[in-house]
Amino acid sequence: MASSMDSCLQLVVAVVFLLVFSVKSLKPNELRPSSIIKKVNAGGPYIGLISVYSREEDAFFSTGGFKPNPKHPYVDLSGRRFRFGKIHGKPVIYVRCGIGMVNAAAATQQMVDLFDIVGIVHFGIAGNLNNSMSIGDVVVLKQVANTGIWDWMKVNGTLELNSIAHLDFGTYNVPKGNETNLLGRISFRPEDFHSESKNPNTSIQLIWAQITPKWLQLATLLEGMKLKKCVNSSLCLPQEPKLVVGLNGSTANIFVDNGVYRDFLFRNFNVTTTDMETSAIAMTCLSNGYPVIVIRGLSDLAGAQTGKSAIDTFGSLAALNTANVVLKFIRMLPLNYYLYY
Ligand SMILES: *[C@@H]1O[C@H](CO)[C@@H](O)[C@H](O)[C@H]1NC(C)=O
Ligand SMILES: *[C@@H]1O[C@H](CO)[C@@H](O)[C@H](O)[C@H]1NC(C)=O
Ligand SMILES: *[C@@H]1O[C@H](CO)[C@@H](O)[C@H](O)[C@H]1NC(C)=O
Ligand SMILES: *[C@@H]1O[C@H](CO)[C@@H](O)[C@H](O)[C@H]1NC(C)=O
Ligand SMILES: *[C@@H]1O[C@H](CO)[C@@H](O)[C@H](O)[C@H]1NC(C)=O
Ligand SMILES: *[C@@H]1O[C@H](CO)[C@@H](O)[C@H](O)[C@H]1NC(C)=O
Ligand SMILES: *[C@@H]1O[C@H](CO)[C@@H](O)[C@H](O)[C@H]1NC(C)=O
Repeated sequence: MASSMDSCLQLVVAVVFLLVFSVKSLKPNELRPSSIIKKVNAGGPYIGLISVYSREEDAFFSTGGFKPNPKHPYVDLSGRRFRFGKIHGKPVIYVRCGIGMVNAAAATQQMVDLFDIVGIVHFGIAGNLNNSMSIGDVVVLKQVANTGIWDWMKVNGTLELNSIAHLDFGTYNVPKGNETNLLGRISFRPEDFHSESKNPNTSIQLIWAQITPKWLQLATLLEGMKLKKCVNSSLCLPQEPKLVVGLNGSTANIFVDNGVYRDFLFRNFNVTTTDMETSAIAMTCLSNGYPVIVIRGLSDLAGAQTGKSAIDTFGSLAALNTANVVLKFIRMLPLNYYLYY
């Protein structure tokens, strides 16, 4: 009896201590995240914006298009800063998710769970797999595949009947032909897709996550828009960059800087871009029933170049061209958002 009274008392002391401690850790006038979120949501609905890393973020802010909310500029959640503001007078919430698919999906899920958003505009730079496209061009994707899910098999291992792509390492032996490459083969497998509109017991096998058709259609009106050609007075792209709407993209937790793998992806999946976040963001939006659009600027050739990747030379220009497309898209998005799903 006495010991249970004791532990009860200890619990009360611990709870009081925690309360006092957590209140003390807030600076004067500082609100709890939940309280900021509540206040901010009252000013919605918002367009959610997600970039990946600093180069893209710097370019985005350098346009001056994002006007921070003076009263509640941001809230930090799970180590990411969600910033509140307006673009062309429309409320937006912006976050930089960090590189890779886990970061991308986690930040997206948080965005849709906690904030009053109408949909997600995802933007950033990407590797270019398509020889008809050039560094500096910007792509609005139509659909995106997670091309990072492979069954790693024995040499000549039996493929699934409906296998849509596989890679035999031995095909790339140099000199060709006579040795067995014990790395065997990898066989693509579609992703397990769960959606709130489906029975929770079932998932479907997803190859392509589809971009919201009405948002994509709206983006086609931007084709032909002028993009920047020069990094500075002495460094320019060899051609005028262009915006192309409706191409396919690929995502994996792999940074591709290898010409042979680049060609494999292009030939087998009909994809123009390679990045490390898009399919995770698109799939999370679709699972939760939110519209999504993806705008990616081409920063490098994913390994088709001789020598160093162009990402350090033209990455910032690609990011700036991308940010400018994002601003124009938000300007065009009609305020009766819900008619545009
Ligand atoms: C794999 O298949 C090829 C072509 O059928 C054959 O030449 C080769 O001997 C096989 N290799 C192994 C390790 O089974
Ligand atoms: C493989 O091919 C190379 C060049 O064609 C040849 O020199 C080598 O002897 C071959 N190796 C085997 C194990 O057949
Ligand atoms: C899911 O499966 C379980 C076990 O098979 C079953 O009891 C349950 O009713 C199913 N739920 C739905 C929503 O179908
Ligand atoms: C232009 O940018 C390149 C790459 O960042 C740099 O090497 C070069 O010095 C810059 N030139 C001028 C005139 O600023
Ligand atoms: C995108 O992928 C689909 C399915 O593989 C293919 O039919 C279509 O031609 C591709 N789009 C482009 C622009 O290549
Ligand atoms: C790529 O396009 C070709 C030709 O349109 C088609 O046969 C093939 O199935 C497509 N690949 C994928 C992965 O959709
Ligand atoms: C490559 O880019 C060109 C030019 O934009 C486009 O017409 C073509 O469909 C793209 N090919 C693939 C496979 O996406």
